[in-house]
Amino acid sequence: MQDGEVTIPGRQGSHVNDRIDIDIDKELDNAAKGVSRRNFIKGVICGGAAVSSAGYLFRASNLLGQYGDAGDRLITINVNGQQRRVDAMKQETLAWTLRYKLGLTGTKLGCDRAECGACTVLIDDVPHYSCSVLTHTVRNRKVVSIEGLAAADGTLHPVQQGVIDEQGFQCAFCMSGFIMSTVGFLKTNPNPTRTELAHGISGNLCRCQDYDKILTAMMRGAENLRKGKVHA
Ligand code: FES
Ligand code: FES
Repeated sequence: MQDGEVTIPGRQGSHVNDRIDIDIDKELDNAAKGVSRRNFIKGVICGGAAVSSAGYLFRASNLLGQYGDAGDRLITINVNGQQRRVDAMKQETLAWTLRYKLGLTGTKLGCDRAECGACTVLIDDVPHYSCSVLTHTVRNRKVVSIEGLAAADGTLHPVQQGVIDEQGFQCAFCMSGFIMSTVGFLKTNPNPTRTELAHGISGNLCRCQDYDKILTAMMRGAENLRKGKVHA
């Protein structure tokens, strides 16, 4: 055998050829391992991609499921004395429907998680956080938002008038929620003490922390209501 000639591993030859034999043997072995490892990694990546793609696919189909059929979404709800036809998703909140489907933006969204009371409306005369009520659950019930309090001729509700009389509130973001809570509370206790009313509307928060003035305005509203000063 001549120098430099490649031999088959295991065959005898010169020392040089022996070294060449060993190197080629290792190379073949490493190459085989390398291909195998690459294939393995490729397989893992492809598998992972398939799994994550499946996740997106399943999530998309879930979202489509939540969006629901148009026939199921179309409902009628009674808002401020009117029958209103709305296209509401199954998971849609009443606050969202009022603000963004019916244009009743007097209902505010503060926390959107049942903590601040900015979104309070009356449902069958009881105050509720509308951010935590699903629109589909208020069919056959009576919803009143801040826009539904004043009389048809524009005369303010006694509690709204109380705010004017006492100049309550600073930025007033929380105002409609406080008014709706107070109107609801006065339906069960029309002559509350200051402490009772404070307790009754304690589910409403004011970021300006103007609580003393707010309470004074709400007490004035209660007084207006009792005097029958304006419509109730
Ligand atoms: S927005 Fe509903 S409780 Fe805060
Ligand atoms: S007056 Fe500003 S949040 Fe209440």
